[in-house]
Amino acid sequence: MPILDDRHFEFFSHSPDQTRRLGIHLGGYLKSGDVVGLVGNLGAGKTTLVQGLAQGWGALDPVSSPTYVIVNEYRRADGQHLYHVDAYRLENAFDAEILDFDRMLSQGPLVIEWAERIKPVLPEDCLWIRMESTGMEHRSMMLNPEGSRFLNIVNQLRRKLYGAF
Ligand SMILES: Nc1ncnc2c1ncn2[C@@H]1O[C@H](COP(=O)(O)OP(=O)(O)OP(=O)(O)O)[C@@H](O)[C@H]1O
Ligand SMILES: [Mg+2]
Repeated sequence: MPILDDRHFEFFSHSPDQTRRLGIHLGGYLKSGDVVGLVGNLGAGKTTLVQGLAQGWGALDPVSSPTYVIVNEYRRADGQHLYHVDAYRLENAFDAEILDFDRMLSQGPLVIEWAERIKPVLPEDCLWIRMESTGMEHRSMMLNPEGSRFLNIVNQLRRKLYGAF
C-alpha cells in the first residue's frame, strides 16, 4: 500500500528511468514560487529525479549536476526559469542567503539537493522528497508535502499513478 496518510506518499523506483518518469509527472505541476527539497545520500538519485522534473516542467536545457556551481538554471520557452541548487557545499543556511531565493522564486520553481542543510532559509510550504537507496537499482522516495498547495499536488499525483482509492 503506497499510502501512509495524507501527508506522506511513498514511491518505490526500480530504475533510473522510473525515477525520471516520476519526476516528469511531478514537474508538470510545478510553477513559479514552488520549492522542492530533496534529501538523500550521495547517489540516492536526486539529480536523476531533477532530470525528470525539468523535462516535465518543460525545460529547454539539459540537467547537469550543480555540485560545483551551486546553482544551475534551465530555461523554458515562455521565459520562465527552473532553478536547481545543490546545497552540499554550503556550510550553513546563511551561505544560502546570498543566492537570493526570492528573486529565483519570482522567475520559476526552485529544486534543491541536500535541502535539509539550509532548511532555516526555506519557506514553510515546501515539497520534501527523501530518497534512499534500497538496492542496486532500487530507490525509495518519501514525498512529504508541507502546505495545502503541495498536499493537493501530491494527491493529484497519487491519483494519476495509482488511480483513486
Ligand atoms: N532507481 C533509481 N533511481 C535513480 N537513480 C538510480 C536508480 N537506480 C540506479 N540509479 C543510479 O544511481 C545514481 C544516482 O545518481 P544521482 O546523481 O542522481 O544521485 P544524487 O542523489 O544526485 O547524488 P549526489 O548527492 O552526489 O548529487 C545514478 O548513477 C543512477 O543511474
Ligand atoms: Mg546530485
